[in-house]
Amino acid sequence: MTPVLSRSAPRSAPRPDRVTDDRSAGMPNSLAIFDRERALELDAADPLAPFRSRYLPQTDDVVAYLDGNSLGRPLASIASVWSSFASEEWSTRLIRGWSEGWMELPRIVGDELAAAALGAAPGQTVIADSTTVNFYKAMRAALNLRPGRQRVILDRDNFPTNRYVVESLAKDLDLELVWLQAPSDAGVTPDMLAAAIDDRTAVVTLSHIAYQSGYLADIRAITEITHAAGALVVWDLCHSVGACEILLDDCDVDFAVGCTYKFVGAGPGAPGFGYVNRRHHAALDQPIWGWLGRANSFEMEQGYVAAGGIRSMLSGTPPVPAILAVREGAAVIAEAGIGAIRAKAVALTDMVVALTDEWLIPQGFSLGSPRDGSRRGGHVSVNRSDAREVCSRLIDAGVLADFRAPGTIRLGVSPLPTGFTEVWDALDRMRGLTEK
Ligand SMILES: Cc1ncc(COP(=O)(O)O)c(C=O)c1O
Repeated sequence: MTPVLSRSAPRSAPRPDRVTDDRSAGMPNSLAIFDRERALELDAADPLAPFRSRYLPQTDDVVAYLDGNSLGRPLASIASVWSSFASEEWSTRLIRGWSEGWMELPRIVGDELAAAALGAAPGQTVIADSTTVNFYKAMRAALNLRPGRQRVILDRDNFPTNRYVVESLAKDLDLELVWLQAPSDAGVTPDMLAAAIDDRTAVVTLSHIAYQSGYLADIRAITEITHAAGALVVWDLCHSVGACEILLDDCDVDFAVGCTYKFVGAGPGAPGFGYVNRRHHAALDQPIWGWLGRANSFEMEQGYVAAGGIRSMLSGTPPVPAILAVREGAAVIAEAGIGAIRAKAVALTDMVVALTDEWLIPQGFSLGSPRDGSRRGGHVSVNRSDAREVCSRLIDAGVLADFRAPGTIRLGVSPLPTGFTEVWDALDRMRGLTEK
């Protein structure tokens, strides 16, 4: 990947789990060299550019799609997979399909996603439910593994569903919640956690990439600190799966959950995933005891006996067409390579930061994301008090970004379908619309 900025962009993907020394951190980027020609050159040199044509084309009313961190664009192959599934498989196999492979899809495609994007060996990941439900199961299972400890550590800027689920668990189980508060343009650091954790802590739960600031947490260091205190960690990977390298096994993560409708691109409402480290399987006890997580499901016996292994995380019937879309998303990530995807995410977000410095900050915006590319995920947040109104004007002008209360616009750059010129044009429109 050609660097965006001659002096500061990384030439290869930094390891996402380590803080690298970035001498440009904290300093504004220089934009003297950055014009539209430069964006065109970057597109021409982009090794991932051919992947853009794998996605259904944008309609004429869209200048730039900067919301792939919320809902990914559709892969053209998903339409044909769904069509042939309906006409050739479902229509011919009918109910026999369940015993001819559909029932195994949560685990098979879980392994495919794990290999492409999670750094996890087979047998530890399932595609199932929503992220919210997977998170509830993972949290409760983690708490069950630490009896006698009543504390959960989380952060105020965690995604609302995570905060609410933990608060509901606290109500039911009489837990004590320890809230961390990071600066709004950053996220939870290992030092912050180290200062808060002790032997009363059962579980630490954080997002790998913060949904608001895009901060990329140090998953390795935070997991190590958690384990040193005898606690377990539950990571939310919604914003990192498909956007940056994740090394769940290597970092010895306990539990992780995430969604497949952002950078994996499996479509609106696509199922989530749950990862449970193999060393917890023997004692795994998740709270939603459904028939498909039971041993010998189809014997319909009385009482619940967990199936064992990662199957114990399952509860109900798998959404087969939706899982087939996850399979398409995982395959394209595997083909592109998560290292190349990460490198492009850094280059694209570097460009957004550079253009923000040059155009938006003089117009009253502030940067709401880390300057250090090694600590930034697949989106950049910019803040201004009238962000809600600006965002709706942007959408009217064909630049689809999203607003997050109270004053943030998130500019998401999905490395596979998004081009440098597309992002440049979006920021150019934004500059024109927000001139003061
Ligand atoms: C970080 C994060 N966690 C959890 C969720 C909740 O996911 P779901 O609504 O699919 O349960 C989201 C949804 O966008 C999210 O961004």
